Amino acid sequence: MARTIKIFDTTLRDGEQSPGCSMNLKEKIKMAKQLERMRVDVIEAGFAISSQGDFLSVKTIAETLKDCTVASLARADGKDIDRAWEAVKGAVDPRIHLFIATSSLHMEHKLQMKPDDVYERAVAMTARAVKYCGNVEFSAEDSTRSDPEFLARVLEGVVAAGATTINLPDTVGYTTPDEHRAFFLKMRELAPSLEKVTLSCHCHNDLGLAVANSLAAVLGGAGQVECTVNGIGERAGNAAMEEVVMALHTRRPFYGAETRIATQEIMRSSGLLARITGAGVQPNKAIVGRNAFAHEAGIHQHGVMQDRRTYEIMTPESVGLNKNNLVLGKHSGKHAFRDRVKTLGYELSDAELEIAFEKFKSLADKKKTVYDKDIEAIVAKEAVQVPRTYRLDSFVINSGNTITSTAVIRMLRDGKIYEKVSRGEGPIDAAFKAVEKIVGRELTLEDYRIASVTEGEDALGDASVRIRTVDGAEFSGRGLSTDVIEAGIHAYVNAVNKMLYAESEAAGQA
Ligand code: KIV
Ligand code: ZN
Repeated sequence: MARTIKIFDTTLRDGEQSPGCSMNLKEKIKMAKQLERMRVDVIEAGFAISSQGDFLSVKTIAETLKDCTVASLARADGKDIDRAWEAVKGAVDPRIHLFIATSSLHMEHKLQMKPDDVYERAVAMTARAVKYCGNVEFSAEDSTRSDPEFLARVLEGVVAAGATTINLPDTVGYTTPDEHRAFFLKMRELAPSLEKVTLSCHCHNDLGLAVANSLAAVLGGAGQVECTVNGIGERAGNAAMEEVVMALHTRRPFYGAETRIATQEIMRSSGLLARITGAGVQPNKAIVGRNAFAHEAGIHQHGVMQDRRTYEIMTPESVGLNKNNLVLGKHSGKHAFRDRVKTLGYELSDAELEIAFEKFKSLADKKKTVYDKDIEAIVAKEAVQVPRTYRLDSFVINSGNTITSTAVIRMLRDGKIYEKVSRGEGPIDAAFKAVEKIVGRELTLEDYRIASVTEGEDALGDASVRIRTVDGAEFSGRGLSTDVIEAGIHAYVNAVNKMLYAESEAAGQA
């Protein structure tokens, strides 16, 4: 019988630590609900002691989700553990996840602790966590560069103290698949108590091997894989959940293992995260990239038309990739729209639905055909909307290849109109500078991209921007319109609104 491998998602903790991927409370809750819907086993919702914002998001997620375990990270330190418990205790199944480094390099240079002291601390802090909670995970940071004999001693100690999951992270993405499998087998031999607990892997992608190493760990006996959606995470990222899950799913007889994941939710989760963080997915990324199921070569297309299995090892439908269905037109009513949104798997409040419906109507007026993808783009954006402190009212742009571009932007805030004019290097630069003047803040544009949601001349443009404040905080925004300039301005205003929301959240007013 196939083993069931637990999927531990750390998108909201290790993933969020990657540059430009920070999320506000509302966005984290949306993402957590989507992860629950995808049936991940454990959600690591944050690092409770790291900030008041992290504490609040772990606590809210813990109290909101009903179908999965919610964990908070904690260092092997009394205050961290107490805070982690405060944050997760309202969950249906709370977990405290504590860690301490076990490699000589980390113990000597980072912790400045002797191995015996690390051992004592690991055991004592596990015992402290176990007093609060029956579900305790212990991670030996930098385990793959640790002395196996010492590591085994620590693992025996923390299992005896009550840890129920033992995680062996490849913190710096140093290992390779054969070595990683052998490492798991060896640790099970050196620390026989591991047979009593769930053994877990946590691989970083510095050498591009995180997924391969995770799968090797499964072959070596891991019963839990820690990963993130789209593989976001520190430096080169963590193991990509969609790749691990689909490898186990597609090669189930080989691995003798499966997961509980609802694979049809994969595309939606990937899209939602990309939309929230503004970190797009590379086109050729396995499973969720735009080209992952596109057959370009004639010989491949011919083969697929004869029998899909010639060049397709999994179906697009199995990961939730739907064809471009023509669904609704400008005469469709709110009822039909609501039904379609529901079928596509989105849950919107009445107010969000109202706004999304207005956007759909105005799109249907401009665009001949409205596809599922267009509706998903509108709805997914609405689903993570922050309060619209500023709204774009109107814009006029004067641009050409022989003149300096000028933009007149008019925005609304609390019912009041604000208007500014600006010149710039091209229409987008002029427009963004005019918005910056209205907001009265110095903002640096870090990134600006535009992509089309579907094909065709009247396709909906999906703009994303990333801005940086003078304090170095970064915010991303998305905007949709059939007019690419308007999409860009909406994206910029959305980023500004996220910045203002984060600032009010930090001041405790959101
Ligand atoms: O990479 C790592 O070692 C970690 C641990 C804190 C689990 O993220
Ligand atoms: Zn990590």
